[in-house]
Amino acid sequence: MKTKVFLLIALSLVIFACGKKESAKAPVKKSGPLTIGMSQCNLGEPWRVQMNEDIKQAAAKQKELKVVFKDAQNDSLKQVAQIEEFISAGVDAIIVSPKEAAPLTPVVKTAFEKGIPIIVLDRRVNGDKYTCFIGADNKKIGKAVGEWITQKLKGKGKVVELKGLMTSTPGQDRHSGFRSGIEGSDVEIIFDVDMKWLEPAARKEMESALARFKDINLVYAHNDPGAHGAYLAAKAAGREKDILFVGIDGLPQEGQMYVKQGILAASFEYPTGGKEAVDTAMEIFNGQIPEKEITLRSRVFTTKNIDRGGVLL
Ligand code: FRU
Repeated sequence: MKTKVFLLIALSLVIFACGKKESAKAPVKKSGPLTIGMSQCNLGEPWRVQMNEDIKQAAAKQKELKVVFKDAQNDSLKQVAQIEEFISAGVDAIIVSPKEAAPLTPVVKTAFEKGIPIIVLDRRVNGDKYTCFIGADNKKIGKAVGEWITQKLKGKGKVVELKGLMTSTPGQDRHSGFRSGIEGSDVEIIFDVDMKWLEPAARKEMESALARFKDINLVYAHNDPGAHGAYLAAKAAGREKDILFVGIDGLPQEGQMYVKQGILAASFEYPTGGKEAVDTAMEIFNGQIPEKEITLRSRVFTTKNIDRGGVLL
């Protein structure tokens, strides 16, 4: 009996110690002027401009909060250096939307281990050395795209896949999810290539696809700029009416507008998470430990449902 009691006490002490260690990484309650360093991987796409805007708007609601934005201009090394600057400046928290997983992983870990809360937004880093990840489930979105396309093409068709940067996690997940969504159907991928999330690159790749293949039923691009680039290439070749175009992001001023204009058959929403990132930072400043993973919902916008605001996935 005595040994049992002793063991129980010992066990609770261990659990208590572990719990303490975990919360030692979490910051103490902070108040007064607070600064968040926000590292954006680029501002080339409307989606990223929107993310910064969402962060600005959410931050404006907090009296003593200041956000310092840095734009890495699509350069992972520059992004690492900018996060190092935030660390040396002693910011109270960091929000990062990384360009690529591998090169950004060590610097995110450094911030985390120094006790600076670091919120990773949209694209992931490797491992779990960060405070919190916020983003939609790209595998789920990719799978939904695959299923939607299979239905739209009645189980059979020739598809071009224009992939996002494959060293970034949304590109990998939108690809693998998509492949699982078309599994078992006769939807055939006749051409797939990495367009690195960039509209001009997507347009160029689509020109090659058009030159090589007489029959293309549909283009799945991992983002709306890519789908639009492909559309422009097809239009220039006089083939845009024979092909359906599907993208991801679903911004009101981009994907949703393209759907309304009949340029895209569908756009799948990818919420920026900007507001949620600021809310999470505030929780941390208030002494709370946030969830490690915050998964955002997505919607699909099609010509049929766009007037009703899309349909939740
Ligand atoms: C913008 C962007 C979006 C895409 C996201 C994925 O840089 O390419 O279009 O949804 O990044 O991380």
